[in-house]
Amino acid sequence: MAGPSRQRYDAVAVVLHWTMALGIFVLIGVGLAMKHAGLPKSRVIQLFQLHKSIGVVILLLAVARLAWRLVRPAPPLPDALPALERKAAQAGHAALYALMLALPLAGWALVSTSPLNIPTVLFGILPWPHISFLADLPDKAPVHAAAQALHKYGAYALIAVLVGHIGAALRHAVKGDVPLSRMSLFGRLGENAK
Ligand code: HEM
Ligand code: HEM
Repeated sequence: MAGPSRQRYDAVAVVLHWTMALGIFVLIGVGLAMKHAGLPKSRVIQLFQLHKSIGVVILLLAVARLAWRLVRPAPPLPDALPALERKAAQAGHAALYALMLALPLAGWALVSTSPLNIPTVLFGILPWPHISFLADLPDKAPVHAAAQALHKYGAYALIAVLVGHIGAALRHAVKGDVPLSRMSLFGRLGENAK
């Protein structure tokens, strides 16, 4: 039965969506800045620690979010939505879930196999271990290179999927066929009043 409550994602899903969106935008900005902005070395080291700290939080939230998604499935899309757009939305969301898990795991793997062996201390307070079976490998270099490439190109893929995701969300909001209020923190904002 599609009652009014099933037109919207539940509060847990909405809060997780926007907390993680904020975190991921910051991670992309910090990640690109620390690699490409030519900042002083001391600042880059600070940004690496901040990036790793927020990244680990995103990993934990992604696991919680996926578990919640299994308990509380997404509200059904409107029946009028063409099959192709329905499939595109499902594929886009699946790609976002895959990337929000794979990227932090690749980041964790790359710091665990780094020749610099720099410890991760979350927000300067909580020590976070390396992945021990990777850190103990006799030859870490190939795994490090693979994880680094996966992390970098995965991040660029995420940016591309996000451009599509945000574009689709705004386009549907303007058309009024899939209202933004399905994922809004503020109730009926953007809903097409009929
Ligand atoms: C890093 C940024 C973001 C990520 C990783 C992300 C991820 C996701 C994912 C995975 C879903 C599917 C949820 C599910 O079915 O369980 C979703 C849904 C949604 N997102 Fe985002 N999102 C981001 C940013 C945004 C932004 C900026 C907007 C607003 C323009 C937005 C609008 C929406 C809407 C409206 C839905 C619900 C789609 C529907 O009606 O079925 N998202 N998002
Ligand atoms: C969704 C989560 C994450 C996103 C979106 C993200 C994004 C990025 C981006 C855009 C870059 C710059 C890539 C480049 O242009 O070279 C980067 C680099 C990096 N990230 Fe992440 N990251 C995430 C999670 C993590 C986590 C959890 C860790 C470690 C625990 C981490 C560690 C690193 C490191 C060490 C680099 C520098 C890699 C290098 O020197 O080539 N990241 N990240």
